[in-house]
Amino acid sequence: MTEHNLNQLKNIIRLFYPNTGIKATVQSCTVVFEVEGTEIKCDVADSIFADLYQKLCDITGKNMPWGNLTGIRPTRLVRKHGFKEVTGKYFVSDKKIKLLENVIAAQQGYMTREEKLINYYVNIPVCPSRCNYCSFPSGIIDKCKDLLDEYVDCLCEEIKRDGKQIKAGGYEVYSIYVGGGTPTVLSAEQLEKVLKAVQETTNGLPLEFTCEAGRQDTITKEKLALLKKYGVTRVCVNPQSFNDVTLRTIGRNHTSYDFFKVYRLVEKYGFIINTDLIAGLADESAEDFKYSLDKTIELYPHNITVHTLSKKRGSLLVSAAAPVAHSTDTHIVIMVDLAYKKLTAAGYIPYYLYRQKSQKGALENVGYCKPGFQCINNISVMEETISVLASGAGAISKKINMNGDGSPIIRYANCKDISMYIAEFEERYKNKSTVFFDNV
Ligand SMILES: C[S@@+](CC[C@H](N)C(=O)[O-])C[C@H]1O[C@@H](n2cnc3c(N)ncnc32)[C@H](O)[C@@H]1O
Ligand code: SF4
Repeated sequence: MTEHNLNQLKNIIRLFYPNTGIKATVQSCTVVFEVEGTEIKCDVADSIFADLYQKLCDITGKNMPWGNLTGIRPTRLVRKHGFKEVTGKYFVSDKKIKLLENVIAAQQGYMTREEKLINYYVNIPVCPSRCNYCSFPSGIIDKCKDLLDEYVDCLCEEIKRDGKQIKAGGYEVYSIYVGGGTPTVLSAEQLEKVLKAVQETTNGLPLEFTCEAGRQDTITKEKLALLKKYGVTRVCVNPQSFNDVTLRTIGRNHTSYDFFKVYRLVEKYGFIINTDLIAGLADESAEDFKYSLDKTIELYPHNITVHTLSKKRGSLLVSAAAPVAHSTDTHIVIMVDLAYKKLTAAGYIPYYLYRQKSQKGALENVGYCKPGFQCINNISVMEETISVLASGAGAISKKINMNGDGSPIIRYANCKDISMYIAEFEERYKNKSTVFFDNV
């Protein structure tokens, strides 16, 4: 039994017992797992994954929506092995097979795989406040305000150097994504510097240029005008929930009315708009989530991404001294099903999906859009078909090796800490440049 297989088996157990320790004893022909006082014995054989899953279903009386599939990108598995294997070997439910079929159909014509194309990513790891579910490495503006001018200058230098390398290597930018954190937390002057550097670097703008303006408490007319001026085509502005009690509980400094006002303002600039919702926040009921869903559909944005709450290590949800409320798995399953039903009935199509560890109900995140408004960055990043060149503190570059030899993906992570990113910039840039431009 390899370490990898043992970890995979433990991951299957975590689908049923998400927050418990698992003890495994490996003997020559058997593995014995102990979880919450229950002993599960499996023979070491090719069928051990299926066998363990069936035993867990029998013990708990539950089936998992994605069967014993623990990977984060089910679409890639289907592309590689076909639907038959996904149903037969992994026990994926009919409901999720239908979702997969729809997602794969919606990606037709939007799947580009090309060595000389790059998704260019810029990271602004700063937020106005910390949301209790979030584990993104992002600082709070009040604590790092004094560093931001220097950060922006250093980031612009990285973007400029990337631009030279992109040109010298004969690469072309496929899409741009300025994310975080919350990029619009920067002052208008700082934001303009970044956007200008991106525009100069990318050598004639690509068709799709996204900026996350997620938090409406950071959006102003002046910043929206700058986004427009520098070629941004797509803006994310995220309610997460339309219930004010929930918004307060999760630590977002805005109300649903604030969101509504800002949404109408963003609309005036003619951007393609993405909105994010999370199923399972605070102790919301299915009815509470339905309210948020209906309000979002009323606004009729081009994209609606429905996330299932994930209890991530590093988030306040997990680290807070007292337990933090969140919805039950049973309610979340209803919410996610409702999202599919209501959004498809309203004319949206599911076009990308991914799963995360510790996702409630072992469910998934699904991006829905109006037909023709598929976000090519979301698709190519999830499907790993285009390399990502990333700049800024905490940004991760991914070089996709299309030669079929060696490692399929080479990663390089920039330093997460803003002051260290600035201090070690020269040395680390050399490393990034070697990894991304010289290594494959
Ligand atoms: C990178 S975050 C940044 C978005 C932006 N800063 C905001 O808060 O609106 C992108 C999205 O991931 C989702 N997300 C983050 N943490 C999550 C979690 N633990 N569980 C489910 N969804 C999560 C949220 O919907 C969020 O809008
Ligand atoms: S969800 Fe967005 S605003 Fe909230 S902490 Fe995470 S990145 Fe920041």
